[in-house]
Amino acid sequence: MAILEASTQVLADGTKVTIRSAIPEDAVATLSLFRSVVEEGFYTLAEPTELTTTVEDEQATIAEDQECPGNLCLVAEVESEIVGMIRAESGSYRRTRHFADIDSMWVETSWRGRGISNVLIISLLNWAKQHPTLEKLGLFVFSNNTRAIKFYKKHGFVTEGRYSRDMKLGENNYVATVAMGLLIKPRDAPAK
Ligand SMILES: CC(C)(COP(=O)(O)OP(=O)(O)OC[C@H]1O[C@@H](n2cnc3c(N)ncnc32)[C@H](O)[C@@H]1OP(=O)(O)O)[C@@H](O)C(=O)NCCC(=O)NCCS
Repeated sequence: MAILEASTQVLADGTKVTIRSAIPEDAVATLSLFRSVVEEGFYTLAEPTELTTTVEDEQATIAEDQECPGNLCLVAEVESEIVGMIRAESGSYRRTRHFADIDSMWVETSWRGRGISNVLIISLLNWAKQHPTLEKLGLFVFSNNTRAIKFYKKHGFVTEGRYSRDMKLGENNYVATVAMGLLIKPRDAPAK
């Protein structure tokens, strides 16, 4: 079971942020945060008209994250409002259980640039470092998302690959997908 105890931290501007595991009752708020990021139009695979996730789907995903020891879904709460989230999901096969993919990292627009995502990712990294089987985290990010790439590099992620022209944002408008990774428990065996 992957559930993190709630902890409250104070940002540089004095704001108190609570980081805790998401619960199914958060589904309306987490889905609404995701929808707002999709509607910005720059950061997600899905475009607004392609977003089909229902509140029930979101509840089921959060419930599964609570049950699955290799998954973690954290929310950042300020005065009882969810303003950010991060989610990691590990593979289910024996060969993939040591790796978790960060597939969500969102902060509500008016809360960006204030340190919320730093607090979220540090909480996730601390969990991952203490995890009995996790060895590596990875993620994909659009090449034009320089803010997010800078943020991940700051937390130790390195660029491992680049899929050029992977995303077609519009006619004659392509960006690459950048694959980033972080070894959280480097092993002795050489990587091939
Ligand atoms: C990327 C994102 C999660 C960062 O969240 P945030 O709360 O704004 O970030 P923080 O305030 O915690 O800042 C963390 C780091 O991000 C980087 N950063 C933040 N704002 C930045 C800006 N305007 N320009 C460049 N880098 C910036 C810096 O490295 C910063 O560290 P520092 O404050 O020590 O310099 C947020 O901007 C976001 O939700 N973006 C839209 C969704 C998205 O792109 N998600 C990632 C998809 S892979």
